[in-house]
Amino acid sequence: MTAPITPIQPDHPQQAAIRLRQVSCERGGRELFNIDYWRLPAGEHGLLEGPSGCGKTTLLHLIAGLETGVNGEINVLGHDPGQLGSRQRDRFRASHIGLIFQDFHLLEGLTVEANLRLGGWLGRRGDNRQAARELLVRLGLSSLAHQYPHTLSQGEKQRVAIARALINQPPLILADEPTSALDDANTDNVIGLLLEEADSHGASLLVASHDSRLRKHFSHRIELAGPQ
Ligand SMILES: Nc1ncnc2c1ncn2[C@@H]1O[C@H](COP(=O)(O)OP(=O)(O)O)[C@@H](O)[C@H]1O
Ligand SMILES: [Mg+2]
Repeated sequence: MTAPITPIQPDHPQQAAIRLRQVSCERGGRELFNIDYWRLPAGEHGLLEGPSGCGKTTLLHLIAGLETGVNGEINVLGHDPGQLGSRQRDRFRASHIGLIFQDFHLLEGLTVEANLRLGGWLGRRGDNRQAARELLVRLGLSSLAHQYPHTLSQGEKQRVAIARALINQPPLILADEPTSALDDANTDNVIGLLLEEADSHGASLLVASHDSRLRKHFSHRIELAGPQ
């Protein structure tokens, strides 16, 4: 006899990478956004849209637990980052979330390879030399492994930032405006790379962008309205 199949509950936090319920956020004395409900199923990809200043970066940081201070419920891979203590939150982020900042946040005093390995070390992955080397090869960066960030082009820095976000194979990848400085061809390349890398280990990807060229790549979208 086969075991009974548990019906999928669309609201079950374990089956959502991100679930937002009645989330509103104030900054500087005004309401930035107010989201009734949005859900990104695990393993699927979403676009967080809206004009500059509408709160996209703030929402990404709330999801990543880099910022707190929000009303309502933010559930990330079954956890509410705002309910975790600060050390737990840092640990959760390091092991579950790959974050690609708009301005990359590479450590200037470390080589490309060391930047990657630091990300792995923070996620407590033990010796990750091999993982770092493989990722550098896959992203076409192996010849740059021993260079420092200030010697790289913007496009190379961005690929290093993407590689660093992927080293722990996080189940959730967040990318803030990854295409804002790119032409059409490079926009497609970078989004293609992010989607491919996310799919290669079953991760969910959320991209924040004001760039409407990205819509065609995403079946899940959430749009923040912007200042009223
Ligand atoms: N801690 C804060 N205090 C005051 N204003 C803030 C704070 N954080 C963000 N803001 C403001 O909120 C707005 C939205 O910021 P942001 O999340 O960066 O938007 P986006 O990424 O969509 O451009 C901006 O006007 C910003 O100045
Ligand atoms: Mg922003």
